[in-house]
Amino acid sequence: MTLLAIRDLTVSVRGPAGKTTILDRVGLSVEPGGAVALVGESGSGKSLTAFAAMGLLPAGARVESGSVLFEDKNLLELRERELCAVRGARLAMVFQEPSAALNPVYTIGSQISEAVRLHQSISRRDARALAERWLADVGMPAPSRAYDSYPHELSGGMRQRALLAIALIAGPSLLIADEPTASLDRTLEAQVLELIAEQRRKRKMALLLVSHDLATVSEVTVRVVVLYAGEVVEEGPTASMLDAPAHPYTQALVASIPDPSKHGQRRLGQRAPLLPVLPGAPPRFDMLPPGCRFAPRCDQAFDRCAAERPPLYATSAGGSVRCFLYDTKAEAAS
Ligand SMILES: Nc1ncnc2c1ncn2[C@@H]1O[C@H](COP(=O)(O)OP(=O)(O)O)[C@@H](O)[C@H]1O
Ligand SMILES: [Mg+2]
Repeated sequence: MTLLAIRDLTVSVRGPAGKTTILDRVGLSVEPGGAVALVGESGSGKSLTAFAAMGLLPAGARVESGSVLFEDKNLLELRERELCAVRGARLAMVFQEPSAALNPVYTIGSQISEAVRLHQSISRRDARALAERWLADVGMPAPSRAYDSYPHELSGGMRQRALLAIALIAGPSLLIADEPTASLDRTLEAQVLELIAEQRRKRKMALLLVSHDLATVSEVTVRVVVLYAGEVVEEGPTASMLDAPAHPYTQALVASIPDPSKHGQRRLGQRAPLLPVLPGAPPRFDMLPPGCRFAPRCDQAFDRCAAERPPLYATSAGGSVRCFLYDTKAEAAS
């Protein structure tokens, strides 16, 4: 059984200029206990995909077609009450900005023990003891002091740890983490990612990790899905994605990682340099090119790329790539 299967998901948003399609038949799946990265430039549609995977979409966004199967239920067809039962129990999420997800007027401890008491009927005192154990488990220094602190009294890294504890208390089978380290510095980023990876192993939980940085997520995931302008352009095992990226866009992402020949020894959390990955910008969603969306920036594009939209082709690494360079039939015909 696939734990999470997003199929042909098309999502539009309503803006001042009317309706624009953002996600275009996006598909991705996560196996039980699996670890998948969803990677792409800012604005490529990662968060919309992550939210849709929770059955949550921001105001103005609308699912046009497709399905989100989680443990064999289509989340897009569940009623709010049923969805709430799934979220927070089987499916948990940590967000980019931890301070936005914590309530500023309650202590960390009361928010964690509330989560504990939601899932177990225990006394307040026992809930406190359990909450402190959770805080210790996610690497919170001085858990008892952290318990009595308000969110603003903790650092970003500590807030992210607290949020992670809240997400994990219910024992979810899938954790979705949307750029969970975006507000942290490099050292903290490494620690929080390692913590997420460790908790995944320990709790046999699956992970969908969203990031704009392929190098960072490749350390803790087994497969990678690359999104470009609202479309999946490549999917495959992490190792082959780094060693032999198929799509010209993924090739550019990998080329921007410092010293790719040594990526095996890269320190966790070592970031790609803040250089543009490749010249130009992704297309606007209301002005998408008629052919391949990446063609205007692609140094390997040929006539067909500007005229036709490429489908996904199977790669030898067991993944798929949306690029005419891999159309073996066209090769045979020419
Ligand atoms: N609620 C919304 N209303 C209008 N446009 C949105 C909304 N949410 C996202 N978008 C647009 O959809 C695109 C993808 O957004 P998002 O999924 O947040 O990208 P990412 O997470 O990859 O940076 C962006 O162009 C963004 O402006
Ligand atoms: Mg985002």
